[in-house]
Amino acid sequence: MHAERRPFIGGNWKMNSDLASAVELAEAVVAALGPAGAAPHALEETVDAAVFPPFPYLQAVGRALGHSAVMLGGQDCSAEASGAFTGQVSADMLCDLGCRSVIIGHSERRHGLGEDDALLHQKLAIALESGLAAVLCVGETLSERDEGRAEGVVRAQLRGCFGTLTAETVERAVVAYEPVWAIGTGRTASPADAQRMHAAIRHELGSLYDSRFAAKARVIYGGSVNAKNARAIFDQPDVDGGLIGGASLKAGDFASICRAAAEAWSATGGH
Ligand code: PGA
Repeated sequence: MHAERRPFIGGNWKMNSDLASAVELAEAVVAALGPAGAAPHALEETVDAAVFPPFPYLQAVGRALGHSAVMLGGQDCSAEASGAFTGQVSADMLCDLGCRSVIIGHSERRHGLGEDDALLHQKLAIALESGLAAVLCVGETLSERDEGRAEGVVRAQLRGCFGTLTAETVERAVVAYEPVWAIGTGRTASPADAQRMHAAIRHELGSLYDSRFAAKARVIYGGSVNAKNARAIFDQPDVDGGLIGGASLKAGDFASICRAAAEAWSATGGH
């Protein structure tokens, strides 16, 4: 963590829950992060927390979040604004439902559905244009890491996705470093490995834009973060929070991870 960058913690619920359990989870997250669960400050005031439920439950979860500071987000959006795109959901539709964030380029879409940097560039552009705080995911596969290409792959993803977007446009973006081999596997990057890659990402953002932009940009880590390992990862100077999958499905674990971020941040003098 760094005092100048407020932590961002996202809960990516993926294709889990049903309507009733999604609402229940949202209510439990609000209770755990809001004023009632807090001492001395509500966690929702210390960290930027967001939940990303499946599309069909966005409206119900949004209602359950009510006036809490926990943000609602979509797990993806279309690269197109509107029209004949069966099954897709536009960035404006997400805004209409009260979303303030969206995940772009999760590895389950890059590798599971073949989304490439050119498409993700379009999605990122339209999401940011709609006013969403887009969380752009980047990360190498295990074979790319074993071949020593991890950093090159991640830098190329950043260049491909940010492309020609101006610093002003991408100001609201958050970058999530998610090594593909760490997602859902129980195997996290070591804090030192995460720090090394986060520093490389910040460096690349500096070359794409400038050092002032890079110093302000939030780069979060994702891949098997849980209540136990979160603090060691968040203590790294270039890690500004996390994108949490499995552990975000339990409100208590998600709150513990938010608390770890708040404590790591406060240790740097941030508040
Ligand atoms: P995980 O997922 O925490 O279950 O590994 C992280 C993610 O896919 O964003």
